[in-house]
Amino acid sequence: MATVLPILAFQIIIFFLISPSIILVAGEDQGFARTLDRKLHGLKKEKLSHFRFYWHDIVTGRNPTAVPIVRQPSNSSTGFGFVSMIDDPLTLGPKLSSKLAGRAQGFYASASQEDVGLLMVMNFAFIEGKYNGSTITVLGRNEVFNTVREMPVVGGSGLFRFARGYVQARTHTFDIKTGDATVEYNVYVLHY
Ligand SMILES: *[C@@H]1O[C@H](CO)[C@@H](O)[C@H](O)[C@H]1NC(C)=O
Ligand SMILES: *[C@@H]1O[C@H](CO)[C@@H](O)[C@H](O)[C@H]1NC(C)=O
Repeated sequence: MATVLPILAFQIIIFFLISPSIILVAGEDQGFARTLDRKLHGLKKEKLSHFRFYWHDIVTGRNPTAVPIVRQPSNSSTGFGFVSMIDDPLTLGPKLSSKLAGRAQGFYASASQEDVGLLMVMNFAFIEGKYNGSTITVLGRNEVFNTVREMPVVGGSGLFRFARGYVQARTHTFDIKTGDATVEYNVYVLHY
């Protein structure tokens, strides 16, 4: 009997030591965090989609779609430090006049001192068909003078929730005088 009391006291102390975590677990049930059934959340089967369109970067003329927001702060031959904001049309064909699929909105920045390598940060904001209102987010390195540049798809919204994948960019035309460029984008994206 003499040994039972200390054990009881020990259990009570342990209970009070553990109880804050019990309260925390109860807190999860009140909406801060919980695990959901992905099927009930509409996530049935992940699929792979491929999109091809043309990205038009117009840096000159009356209506440029790319505007410099930071001039290169050094005399670097690669333009290191330069930043340009873009709202570039994405069209189904290589001509700017062909059907508009959406726009690439974001910026690119020269992030390399050794070669011409851009950091691309952009959302593809679609307006075409059922994709109207959905977006795909691309963030990656673009060595613009390489034939094929691959950049990751880091996410998306709407029909592209939980998106992951990659894009391949190939220069279609580049006007060395004006700097205007048309680039073919092939997008491979896993989404639900
Ligand atoms: C940049 O400027 C520095 C000092 O003014 C000079 O030494 C260097 O050669 C220049 N680099 C280029 C690429 O012009
Ligand atoms: C896309 O959706 C917006 C807003 O819902 C609508 O105003 C617009 O007409 C749609 N565009 C196309 C091409 O369907």
